[in-house]
Order: sequence, then C-alpha cells, then structure tokens
Amino acid sequence: MDTVLSYIESNKERYLRELTDLLAIPSVSTNKENVQDMQRCAQWVADQMRSIGLQNVQIFPTAGHPIVYSEWLGAAGKPTVLLYGHYDVQPVEPLELWTSPPFQATVRGDNLYARGAADDKGQVFLHLKSIEAFLRNGGVLPVNIKMLIEGEEEIGSEHLEKFVADKKDLLKADLVLISDSSMFARGVPSICYGLRGLAYMQIDLVGPNRDLHSGSFGGTVHNPIQALTEIIAQLHDKHGRVTIPGFYREVLPLTKKERAAYKRLPWSDKKYAKDLGVKQLYGEKGFTTLERVWARPTLECNGIWGGFTGEGAKTVLPSRASAKVSMRLVPNQRSTKVGKLFESYIKRIAPKTVSVTVRTIHGGEPAITPIDSPGVQAAVAALEKGFGKNPLYQREGGSIPIVVQFKQLLGLDTVLLGFGLPDENSHAPDEFLDLNNFYCGIKTSAHFFNELPHFMAARRKP
Ligand code: BES
Ligand code: MN
Ligand code: MN
Repeated sequence: MDTVLSYIESNKERYLRELTDLLAIPSVSTNKENVQDMQRCAQWVADQMRSIGLQNVQIFPTAGHPIVYSEWLGAAGKPTVLLYGHYDVQPVEPLELWTSPPFQATVRGDNLYARGAADDKGQVFLHLKSIEAFLRNGGVLPVNIKMLIEGEEEIGSEHLEKFVADKKDLLKADLVLISDSSMFARGVPSICYGLRGLAYMQIDLVGPNRDLHSGSFGGTVHNPIQALTEIIAQLHDKHGRVTIPGFYREVLPLTKKERAAYKRLPWSDKKYAKDLGVKQLYGEKGFTTLERVWARPTLECNGIWGGFTGEGAKTVLPSRASAKVSMRLVPNQRSTKVGKLFESYIKRIAPKTVSVTVRTIHGGEPAITPIDSPGVQAAVAALEKGFGKNPLYQREGGSIPIVVQFKQLLGLDTVLLGFGLPDENSHAPDEFLDLNNFYCGIKTSAHFFNELPHFMAARRKP
C-alpha cells in the first residue's frame, strides 16, 4: 500500500491535467448536437481504461448513448466490485453565470471548476487513478474490478436497465460501488445509505385554438397560463404538504432512531438559509430540513412556459401553457403509481375551460442500502484512512435510479461513497470539485479496494 499511496501523492499534477482533458468534452446527454461528443467521451473513457491496464474494454452502443465497460479479474478468490458511474453531464446554460468556461476546467482556490467536475466525471476519474496506482505498482489489485460507465444517467438511464438485464453474467459481482453523491460537508466525509426516487411529469394545457389579441378576447376565455398556475397552486396545502390524494400512502415513516441520529448531525438551518440567500426556509410542516430532503417525498415545478416571454411587451392571450413537475419519492413509494395518482388528480382539478394532457418524462425508484454490510464497513475504514476522519451516515435527496435495478436484477447491494460537496453547484453554473476531496478520494478508493477483502472474509466466517 505504501508504494501505491506515494505513487498517488507524486502524480497529482498529472491527474489534474488528465481530468481537465476529460472535462473538456461537452458530453451533455440531453443535447442532440452533442451526440458526437458523447461518442468521443465514451472513447476517452475506454482509452483511459486501456491505458491504466484494465482489460476487456468495450464500448457498447445503445439506442441512445454508449455504455463503457472494462474489467480486471486477476485477483482469484477475492471479491469483485462493480464500479458504476456516468460520463454524461447536465447542460451548462445559463452560460453567462459561469465565472470561467464550463468545459475549460479552472482551479480557483481549493476547487476545480467545470461542468462534470463533481457530477460525475471527477468521481469516476478518481477511481481510475487508484486502479492505475495499483496496476502500475506491482501489476495487481487486491480485488477484481468491473467498471460500468454510462452516458445517460442525467436523462434517466433509459437504456441501462435493459443492458444490465441482458448482461447478468458479465456484471456478476459481490457489490456495487458508486461515487456520485456528496459528503455531508467540507471536511466531513460520509457514507450515504439512501436516495430518493423520481417521477418526472409534464402538463400541457390548451385553451383557445390559436393565440388571441388580449384586448379583443381578454375576458371571454380562460387564459391557459392562469389555469395552469391555478392547478400548480393547488398542489401544496398551507402546511407544505402535497395535496395529491394517496401521495403519502406508501411512505415509510422515519424511525425514532433515525430522527434522533439526524438531530445529532452538525446542522444549522440559519446557515443553510443564509448560504442559499433565502429569507426563510419552506417545506412540509412537522419535519426538520434534513428529514424533508432525505426522507420525505416532495413535489417541485421545474419549469413553466407559455405566451410571450421576450423583451418588451406583446399583448397576447396564449393558446397553450405547459409545466414540468417532478416528485421526489421515498421508500416504499413507486414512481409509476405516484405518476398515475398525479395524472388523475391533475385531470380532476383542471378547469373545464381548457384541455389537459399529462405525461411521464421518466421515473426512478427510491433506494435504501444496508449500512451493516461488509462493503460499507470497508468504506468506513477507507474514509478513515483517506481523510483521517470518521465518516457519518446520511441519506441524500437526489436520485440514482439504477441502484434499485442492481439489487433487483443482479441481487447486489450498493455502497454510496460520495466525494462531492453539498454546495458544489452540480447541475448549476460554477460546478466544482474540491481538490482535497479529489486527492483524498483517490487514496480512499485505493484503501477501499485494499480493505474490502478483509471485511468480506470476516463476514463469510460463521
Ligand atoms: N449524482 C446525481 C444524483 C445525486 C444528487 C445523488 C445529489 C446524491 C445527491 C445524479 O447525477 C443526478 O443528478 N440524478 C438525477 C436523476 C435523474 C435524472 C433520473 C437527479 O437526481 O435529478
Ligand atoms: Mn451524478
Ligand atoms: Mn446529476
């Protein structure tokens, strides 16, 4: 381990240069114009895998963006880690809010700024570097590795589920490791054991069959924008609860133990509100901030459009209005079921003056992962060594839909070992990766691979 760790220590500058290359590829999965860049990024990842000594490197085309796979299976009798991550990133708009260009990684202070720096290229890359450190120093890893890096996570992993179902043999492993989440705070490493699910919907309203002069027609027909806002305003009550009938029916209540554990975490609502620039926090009554974001379902309007939004004024009574609404789900809610509840409620409350269609954009199921598994114990030990600190346990409000599929299709539990930060601006301008987390993350990854066989062996003994 000592040579591996000192190799990591002495190659930091090269790591930063290589990561900068990866971050320069605009692999925005949702943009049609970036299809070539997606191919190029998959190729970059595959080349990198090959160059560090991973084997059987393959780029699997899908009906969408390619999936990159590779493995190293030279540790006979040792556990196999299925390492999942994604090379696709979110769009960068609004561009003018970036301090430096999103695809030109820039160091400012202790942070590396770029789209994908934290979510998820930087976190994928740090594992590649820990694997490299083993393979360049002795040529062996303490565990077997299978790496699965997809290009459609940010758009709902549409083609990954079928791939996993079709490739059960190829993906056979003992556990899944994912670094695609955040630590609790800067300097406070954590193990994540829960993710929320998602039901992402769109509402389209049509009023009159064409745009109308708002003077000649205003006062005679229901403006679809007004109708839409009336609908959206009804989706929460005055206690911040979602009003859709049955929405909370399957929600697993927080246990006393969990609530007590969250209360012990170092947290300040005041600081949180100040950092976000809001005068006051908002959310479901009767729950703390951490409870609301980690363990309670929520509903958000992500975007709303219709009519005239250009500069100046245009007097128009628009024909159409639309909104994107997503719901974050917690165990034991199911995304298709919640989607149906949403659809029938919207249809029921929509005014008769407009016609309404509701459709599902995508969905994913919530996940809770066991915290007493050997994988988590190895991750705790690895974080202690990599960061010199005891990690704490937390859940996250975000979603990684494939986690549940790994359990259902492959029978595998996932270890969520995140190196991002809660304020890393993921999906927003000025996304960054804390460089200390990056370097300590590489070491933590190496420690994880090194520790895992011991914890797995201890578990196997009766
Ligand atoms: N890395 C995030 C998931 C995440 C976010 C985990 C915050 C922990 C904390 C992932 O890339 C992501 O953004 N997922 C989407 C899911 C989706 C598009 C189906 C999300 O959560 O919105
Ligand atoms: Mn991610
Ligand atoms: Mn993301």
